[in-house]
Amino acid sequence: MGDDGVRDLRAALAAHGQEGLLRFWDELDGAGRERLERDLRSLDLDLLDRLVETLVHGREEHLDMGGVEPVEPDPAPSPEAVAEGEDALARGAVAVVIVAGGQGTRLGFDGPKGCYPIGPVTDRSLFQIHCEKVAALGRRYGRTPPLYVMTSDDNHAATEAFFADHDRFGLEHVRLFRQGTMPAVDARSGTVLLAAPDRVALSPDGHGGTLRALRRNGCLDEMRERGIETIFYLQVDNPLVAVGDPGFVGAHRLAGAEVSSKVVRKTDPAEKVGVVAARDGRQLVIEYSDLPDRLAEQRRPDGGLAYAAGSIALHVFSHDFVERVAATADLPYHRALKRVSCVDERGRPVDPDEPNAIKFEQFIFDTLPLARRSLVLETSREGEFEPLKNAEGVSSPETVRARLSDAAADVLEAAGAVVSRTPEGAAAVPIELGPLVAADPAELARRIAPGTVVDGPFTLS
Ligand code: UD1
Repeated sequence: MGDDGVRDLRAALAAHGQEGLLRFWDELDGAGRERLERDLRSLDLDLLDRLVETLVHGREEHLDMGGVEPVEPDPAPSPEAVAEGEDALARGAVAVVIVAGGQGTRLGFDGPKGCYPIGPVTDRSLFQIHCEKVAALGRRYGRTPPLYVMTSDDNHAATEAFFADHDRFGLEHVRLFRQGTMPAVDARSGTVLLAAPDRVALSPDGHGGTLRALRRNGCLDEMRERGIETIFYLQVDNPLVAVGDPGFVGAHRLAGAEVSSKVVRKTDPAEKVGVVAARDGRQLVIEYSDLPDRLAEQRRPDGGLAYAAGSIALHVFSHDFVERVAATADLPYHRALKRVSCVDERGRPVDPDEPNAIKFEQFIFDTLPLARRSLVLETSREGEFEPLKNAEGVSSPETVRARLSDAAADVLEAAGAVVSRTPEGAAAVPIELGPLVAADPAELARRIAPGTVVDGPFTLS
C-alpha cells in the first residue's frame, strides 16, 4: 500500500475512533503491513460503530418479552410427511449443512470439534458419524445429499486436511465453506483489539453467519443448480441427530414452512437450551441467557413447564427462504463477553484471566421471526439430543458416549440381541453401531447371529 493508501486508511479509521489499530504500522515489515491491511479492509466500520454504541456502551438490553407466548410443538410426523420427505430425498432435492466453525473453547480440544473421537468403541469422529449418516441416506434413497460444512478461519485448514485424510468419508459431494469474521473490541472502550501488532483480533461471526457465508461462497447458487429445495441444518456437536430425517423434512415441506425446528421437552427450568416461543403469529427462539426466570419457571396446569419447547438447534430451511434472507435481511448481533488474547499499547502480549472483550455474533435462530410459516416438531431427548460441549460433567465425552451406547443397545435389542444393562437400564458396556450398518432393526437382525449376547465392548461397522 502506498503512502496515500495508508493516509486514507488512517483517516477512515480515525473517523470511527479506531486509528489505534495502525499504531505499530511503522515497525511492520512488508508482509506484516499486508496482513494488517487485509484484516483492516475486512472491517465494516459503520456497522462496528453501531454495535459499539448499542452493545458496548448502550444499556444492557433485555429482550422485550411483551406478547411472547409458548408454542406447543407438533407430535410425531404423519405417514404422509414421511413419504413426502422420502420422495424429496429420492429426487435429490435435499442438501445437508453442518456448522462447525465454533471454537469449542469449553471442550478444551486442540482441533476442530468435528474431529473429536467420540465413538464409544472405535473413536469414530463426530464428522465421520455425520458423514456416514449422509452416506446411509444415499444408500437408502438412491441419491446422496450434497454436504456443506461451515468452517472458520481458525479451523478451515485443519478441517480440510481431516476430510482429505479420510477420503471425504466416501461422500460424492462435500464442500467446505468459511464463515465470516467479526472483530473483538475492548469491553470498556469499544476499540478494536489487536491479536498481534499486524493482526486484528477477529473471531467467527456466529452461526447466524451461515446464510451469508453460503451465499458468498456460491453454495446457494450451486444448490439451486443441483435442484436443492430443502436444506437440513445441524450443528456438529450432536452425534445423535437423525441426519436428513424424512419425517422432519416431509413435515416441513407439507406445512409449506420456510423454517422448521426440532425441539425436546424441557423439564429443568435451568437447562441451557433456547426455547421456541411465538409473538404476533411468528416464532422466535429465546436464548437461555435471555429467558427471565419468571418465564423459565412458569408452569401449565398439568405441572409441565410452559416454555418447554427446548431448541436443539436442528432446523430445516427452504432454499428459497435462505436465498431471500441471505440477500436481504440483517440478523441482529448479540454481545458475548469473552477472554481474548491481545497486545497492549506497547505491543506486549496480554493473556487476560478475566473477560476483557466483547465479541459480536449472529444466531441462526434469529431467522425464525422472518419466516412467513414455520413448524416445530417434538423429538425425544434420548433419541436425538446429547451435544458435546464440555470437557467434564453434563454434555461431555462421557455422557455423549454413554448415550451413543444406549441408543445402540436399543437398536440391538430390537434386532433380537441380548444386551447387558445396568440396574438403571443403561447399556453396561460400550457399544457402537456405524451409521452404515443397517437402516432398521430388521436389517440389523440379518447382520447379527441369532441370540447374540452383548456383554463386552461391541461394535459393527
Ligand atoms: C446452542 C444454542 C442453544 C441450543 C443449543 C443446543 C446458540 C447461541 N445457542 O447453544 O439455543 O439450545 O445450542 O445444543 O447457538 N458455531 C459456528 N460458528 C460460530 C459459532 C458457533 O459454526 O461462529 C457452531 C459450533 O461449531 C457449534 C454450534 O454452532 O456446532 C453451537 O455453538 P455453541 O456456541 O456451542 O452454542 P451453545 O451455547 O452450546
